[in-house]
Amino acid sequence: MSRTSGRACGKVILLGEHAVVYGVPAIAVGIERGARATVESLESGPSRLSMPAWKVETSTSDDTNDLGRALSAILEASGIDRPVAVEAHASLPPGGGLGCSAALGVAVARALDPRAAETETAERAMAWERVFHGNPSGIDAAVAARGGCVLFERGKSDGSSVCRIDPVRVRGGITLCLGSTGRASSTKTMVDAVARLKARRPEVVAKAFEGITSLVRNARLAIEAGDRLALGRLMDLNQMLLSGLFVSTQEIERLCDLARKAGALGAKLTGAGGGGCVAALVDGAHVADQVLEAWKGEGYDGFATSVAVAEPAPSRASEEVSP
Ligand code: PMV
Repeated sequence: MSRTSGRACGKVILLGEHAVVYGVPAIAVGIERGARATVESLESGPSRLSMPAWKVETSTSDDTNDLGRALSAILEASGIDRPVAVEAHASLPPGGGLGCSAALGVAVARALDPRAAETETAERAMAWERVFHGNPSGIDAAVAARGGCVLFERGKSDGSSVCRIDPVRVRGGITLCLGSTGRASSTKTMVDAVARLKARRPEVVAKAFEGITSLVRNARLAIEAGDRLALGRLMDLNQMLLSGLFVSTQEIERLCDLARKAGALGAKLTGAGGGGCVAALVDGAHVADQVLEAWKGEGYDGFATSVAVAEPAPSRASEEVSP
């Protein structure tokens, strides 16, 4: 019986979440923690999905839960019509803003078809993502599939243009502390909340998106120049604009405050907000320890991750993929 496997990384959005849904560019990095999956052929159907760590068992015949529907969607997108058993594991908190569902989607897509190209795998994982998120920008799946640091720009939702993924050259590495509010959040709910605010107060949201656009452009330059001080400030400013979109919470603000006081260069929510995680930019392991200590002192869990980013290969210098 054939057995194939796949892996994917989690992601941290450094700047640009929410605005990215409306075509503003965002910058994200892949992190080591992620997801893995294995696929085995079955004699007869239906196809099954198990996630032992979460005590989840479902199948394509169970359309009462999102995971069952996501499995059907990704099998269809991958052109698999034989029955399979999929087992998946994630080392990311679900609803934590670290791209857990996209990492699972990419790991499953890879296990289903290990030879597929990176962009194709990310597209197939989007079929899985849409079940959970409704209107995902695609940034999570793109970063889960390729890792590294990228500037991501969504294509037009009417299909008239394609997503743009630009590798960003990181000078001097990036060390982040990721702190959890302890509250899972739903990306769909938060994206819907911003959509409602946009419908009610279009001028307020347009101004925020304008601000985020220039923060992202400057952040790219700061990352390429290895100017972590500037990057930290830009992250702080992005956090202010996200608070103005009502996606921050008291816990997020507290985690950011604790991190800055412990020496972080900047801190903001990452992902959808409304709970989930905060990303704090730190210079070196010593400051990382101080930030984690400060969080722990108030009962918040966290971990540090260094983003070692590979130099982009010339053939991957810039890519466009279908939305
Ligand atoms: O919370 P996450 O990891 O699903 O990230 C969501 C990022 C958003 O910009 C809020 C939504 C999206 O699809 O890009």
